[in-house]
Amino acid sequence: MQEKPRKTFAIISHPDAGKTTLTEKVLLLGGSIRSAGTVKGKKSGKFATSDWMEIEKQRGISVTSSVMQLHYDDTQINILDTPGHQDFSEDTYRTLTAVDTAVMVIDCVKGIEAQTLKLFKVCRMRGIPILTFINKLDREGKEPLDLLEEIEETLDMETYPMNWPIGMGKRLKGIYSIPDKTVEVFDEEEDRKVIPLEEADMLEDYERETLEEEKMLLEEAGNTFSAEKVQQGRMTPVFFGSALANFGVQSFLDQFVSLAAEPQPRKASGSYVPPESSNFSGFVFKIQANMNPNHRDRIAFLRVCSGSFERGMEVKLSRTGKKMKLNQSHSFFASERETVEAAMPGDIVGLYDSGNFQVGDTLCTGSELIQYEEMPQFPPEKFAKVTAKNALKHKQYHKGMEQLVQEGTIQLYKTPYFEDYIIGAVGELQFQVFEYRMKNEYNVDIEFQHMTHELARWVRKGKVDEGMTDSRKMLVLDQQKRPVLLFENDFALRWFQDKHPDVELATGWEIL
Ligand code: G4P
Repeated sequence: MQEKPRKTFAIISHPDAGKTTLTEKVLLLGGSIRSAGTVKGKKSGKFATSDWMEIEKQRGISVTSSVMQLHYDDTQINILDTPGHQDFSEDTYRTLTAVDTAVMVIDCVKGIEAQTLKLFKVCRMRGIPILTFINKLDREGKEPLDLLEEIEETLDMETYPMNWPIGMGKRLKGIYSIPDKTVEVFDEEEDRKVIPLEEADMLEDYERETLEEEKMLLEEAGNTFSAEKVQQGRMTPVFFGSALANFGVQSFLDQFVSLAAEPQPRKASGSYVPPESSNFSGFVFKIQANMNPNHRDRIAFLRVCSGSFERGMEVKLSRTGKKMKLNQSHSFFASERETVEAAMPGDIVGLYDSGNFQVGDTLCTGSELIQYEEMPQFPPEKFAKVTAKNALKHKQYHKGMEQLVQEGTIQLYKTPYFEDYIIGAVGELQFQVFEYRMKNEYNVDIEFQHMTHELARWVRKGKVDEGMTDSRKMLVLDQQKRPVLLFENDFALRWFQDKHPDVELATGWEIL
């Protein structure tokens, strides 16, 4: 049987832009869920982080690690969840290394927001194609042309509108499809209705004129569509709609199926491995621990990159050369887990892990061991000094620290000379997980001293020394012993740069 093509994507958005609502509507269209309210991602944001473990217990794995699946138009679409709010962590970034396309959801009232920008950076770094859904058209938002300009200027990416709003908020009448020259009529009471523009009698003369003017403007001053630029992430097709009103979602999904990228050759050990290679390969992009507190239940999330995966197959772990049999493999849908018998490039498989895997590990078959590109290190924004409460437990403390750092749970920095431990994370949740796992897996109670620093800058050039550490900045060394300056805020950073023009700093995104 011919396998369905795969389209694997994640949504990049700021909390409240409508990621959960859009995901839900897309799953409904694919028949994967029957009613709204099934996708739980968002609700986690309503809990305090301290409740996280309890939530994990109640909900299985749905808080931090859903992989959803739907079948649409003869395509298998895999959606990887990117948790935000208090659940935001390095895993959110890492998930983006496992997708082939990103869908950027923007609230038309707010435009591009902070978290969207952060996640966008990962996509840019990896050249991932981005499709944009401008949401909440039923609200009075920014002018559509201004939104396009904002995307172009903030993200340095060309835009190509696939449809165009006719009115907005209370005046919303429909959206005009640019490729089809049809109008999807906005009527919350009625079923979806798509008609040729000429037959759109509900449009007032002025609405028709405005649409004609804007269409002309787009034709004359807008960009020319380039599939190549879209694939390289240099142009984003833009869709307008309302996820909540289920307006424009189906036309988005229809286009998504053709515009989203299929699994591409991936760089490993200096060359590109095509997905159709006869050898199986994949990499671990996330490890989820203690999903079931009664067992040491750890799941490594593997993105299949080439060949085919079969349950029970024997593979090699490239980092160690060790052979292993993959007997326990799962797929995930919200809080349910199912055993996976086979998977293709683009698919995500959850592997039971008894402590063998690290984030970034490659698994493969074939005579040659290959290693997929290293997982990027993401610049942390939260820091804490950490010590063991009971000094007698220093052995377990160091062991736990070493393993959790290797696994990618948290980032570790040390002060020069005294070698105080400073942990760094992109989100508060990582501290909570770290604390919980140190206690449950290594039996060590740890003490945090939260720091006020929130910017890390790697020293690329110039001399720095510990004398530079003061109340607003601190010199530390990363795991590779590279000097890193932690700053309290932007002001402290700029002040330092003025004082030390000879010191060249990098954000981490640039050098790692
Ligand atoms: P997120 O996952 O990106 O955080 O956003 P989510 O989908 O949960 O949506 C955030 C809020 O925005 C929700 O309202 C949701 O109903 C609303 N929303 C989503 N899409 C649209 C849209 O197209 N138009 C309008 N007007 N609102 C939209 P809430 O009141 O915060 O949550 P809820 O109680 O309705 O779940």
